[in-house]
Amino acid sequence: MNKIKKIISLFFFTILFHNGIFSQAKISTIAVIGTGYVGLVTGTCFAHLGYSVICVDIDEKKINELKKGIVSIYEPQLTDLLRKELSRQKLFFTTHAEKAIKQADIVFIAVDTPMNDDGNAYMGYLNTALETIGKALQKKTIICIKSTVPIGTTDYAEQLLLSHNVSSDLFDMVMNPEFLREGSAVYDFLNPDRIVVGSHSFEAAHTIKNLYEPLLQEKIPCVLVDPATAETIKYASNSFLAVKISFINEIANLCEKTGADICQVSHAMGLDKRIGSYFLKHGPGFGGSCFPKDCNALLHIAKNHGVILRTLAACLQTNQEQRTVPVKKLLEHLVSLDGTTIAVLGLSFKAGTNDIRNSCAITTLELLQKHGAHIKAYDPIANNAMQKLFPDIQYCNSLETALCGCDAAIIMTDWCEFKQLENAPYHQIMKRPLIIDACNVLDCKNRFLQHFVISKIGKR
Ligand code: UDX
Repeated sequence: MNKIKKIISLFFFTILFHNGIFSQAKISTIAVIGTGYVGLVTGTCFAHLGYSVICVDIDEKKINELKKGIVSIYEPQLTDLLRKELSRQKLFFTTHAEKAIKQADIVFIAVDTPMNDDGNAYMGYLNTALETIGKALQKKTIICIKSTVPIGTTDYAEQLLLSHNVSSDLFDMVMNPEFLREGSAVYDFLNPDRIVVGSHSFEAAHTIKNLYEPLLQEKIPCVLVDPATAETIKYASNSFLAVKISFINEIANLCEKTGADICQVSHAMGLDKRIGSYFLKHGPGFGGSCFPKDCNALLHIAKNHGVILRTLAACLQTNQEQRTVPVKKLLEHLVSLDGTTIAVLGLSFKAGTNDIRNSCAITTLELLQKHGAHIKAYDPIANNAMQKLFPDIQYCNSLETALCGCDAAIIMTDWCEFKQLENAPYHQIMKRPLIIDACNVLDCKNRFLQHFVISKIGKR
């Protein structure tokens, strides 16, 4: 019956669409379930595009802060934009999911899908969101999954709702993945390379496509596919970026042996349009809440289908080993770390964020502790976050304090602030002028750095 209904609606929809009737479909209210990095940026930016948006979360404290324009995550532009849309009364926050869902024409699900211990994605928050939506639906609503979810989840979600006796007349499922980088998420939302929309419903797909109309006027491609394809595009995109990083890190390790210049290798590779210059920057490996999670999830999804993704498995293995390189380099200079004092400069998983999830610095701190070193850690904004994981190390509130009296320093995050080392004789305050520049932040030709021994990844 379902299939016949869909064919008939597709037939009439196609007629309506070609008569331009559909494009006037009016979206008045959007609900967003989940106010993490993705949900908050999505809700705020849709409000900025002119829609009325209600963001929902179970965390009452967080919602009360958001109502006052207080944003707990460090995301440039987000706070200003959120406050502007609050004052324009285009953006609202609530813990009452049911009320928000009843008012909405489209409900985005942007809940966390963290990695289970076995590497699969945890679906508990998504299931709860779906059940809440199923109970609250009163009118035809588009349910749009924004979270990164295993391939097949959108179809699973549809079956789950139908199994809870939610009428198929009341909803259409869509998968609309995000490609937001932490630290530039607002920019990435408003300047996407492409919009991906996955649905079996032609009408629902075009409704979501039309949501982005203000952006699509910039001729940004919109790819309309089925849900499983949309889910795969997200995982494959993130996984490929991770593979690119592991590849350049392996080439960097080779350059250390051959004497080739990894920066020039990477630059010249990137000039090939087929390769592209992005995500070819070598370093201590990739971290963050997405790459490790998404690569592992895709590996497990493939394995569950009897497919071995050898390239991706090798990428993750390489990344695990790469994370140990900074301390290995330190041990090439200091026979033993026992009783030494080492400054760890940079704790967040990348510059521009205070997020330490899967940060390479975590591996460095663990290894330094294992080798008996006393650690002085400094990050421009991530000290507090790391203190929750490593409460007994010393946290410093400036670069100078961290370096004072140290036997060596390791740069673990590519914060520009660490280029201060090029502007003053910091070697005079260290016990030993030794720097492991794991992120290739420093220009060794700089006159102040002539006093240092600087060891870099990818440099002999
Ligand atoms: C990533 C994807 O880029 C984004 O599209 C997706 O939606 C979420 O996951 P994010 O994890 O926020 O975004 O950060 P990203 O800038 O991609 O960096 C990820 C990791 O790769 C960081 O640890 C970064 O330091 C590292 N990296 C990045 C490199 O080591 N080399 C590079 O050239 C680029």
